[in-house]
Amino acid sequence: MQTILEPSAVQRLCESFRSGGKTIGFVPTMGFLHEGHLSLMRTARAENAVLVVSIFVNPTQFGRGEDFDSYPRDLQGDLIQIERAGGDLVFAPPAEVMYPEGFRSFVEVTELTDVLCGASRPGHFRGVATVVTKLLNLIRPHRAYFGQKDYQQSVVIRRLVADLNFDLKVVVLPTIREPDGLAMSSRNARLTPEQRRAALVLYRSLRHSEERVREGERNAKAICDEMRGMIEAEPLARIDYVALCDPETLKPIDWMEGSTLAALAVRFGSTRLIDNILISLP
Ligand code: PAJ
Repeated sequence: MQTILEPSAVQRLCESFRSGGKTIGFVPTMGFLHEGHLSLMRTARAENAVLVVSIFVNPTQFGRGEDFDSYPRDLQGDLIQIERAGGDLVFAPPAEVMYPEGFRSFVEVTELTDVLCGASRPGHFRGVATVVTKLLNLIRPHRAYFGQKDYQQSVVIRRLVADLNFDLKVVVLPTIREPDGLAMSSRNARLTPEQRRAALVLYRSLRHSEERVREGERNAKAICDEMRGMIEAEPLARIDYVALCDPETLKPIDWMEGSTLAALAVRFGSTRLIDNILISLP
């Protein structure tokens, strides 16, 4: 396995894979890897001749006062895990190389980024779209893998790839959870034991919404209010948003039919966690 810090070097190597007829599977990450990242890598490994992973805590997707500085990092541990997962190439550039003096260009996906996490993290998806565009241009993968855990991100990236004619397939894979239901996240490492226990309310409230739909409830606002009530009953939780929306447009819905995205973002102390499920009606 090779680790490369230089964009031009990664571009040259990936170009040689491509011209040699090898398919490239790419998993972009911000590191501090867990089973959620590894599941993307295993699928990418199985579906492509070459597995490329990037590790880059992207400063442009963090707002002022967000956790860029305290975001957990463990490059050595990550490299061991990627090697075990069968990675061929790791791209781990320093920030100054990705955003040198004079950098002025950003990629913006409109509307889809105004709601949910975009509403509470202005500029976040502009940073994500920009770095993903740069990474896709450098690596030019045949397939790129993302997790449903960051559902809105996957919608934004699908849109970006279609709108800007990137020649690749976007693959979105299911959320990997801890045995007790908490969605795996690098940020879980920052929870205190009490917050970690309290965070179980996230998946519990998502499951509750599914259960209410199964029981026949179709009023989205009523279900949302119940989810909110469950989370508010947890003293360590502070709601950022709880929403039932259309899984494609991400617009809030009044009435449940077809497929619905139940999504939430909740703070525990200074740690903001997100989770979601798709609820399908026959
Ligand atoms: P990061 O949070 O490190 O996540 C990298 C990828 O792993 C994303 O596609 C994310 O959805 C996926 N992932 C995270 N937790 C998961 C889980 N529990 N189950 C399944 N997949 C999971 O998302 C980012 O980094 C960045 O925004 C990035 C796309 C790399 C751009 O900077």
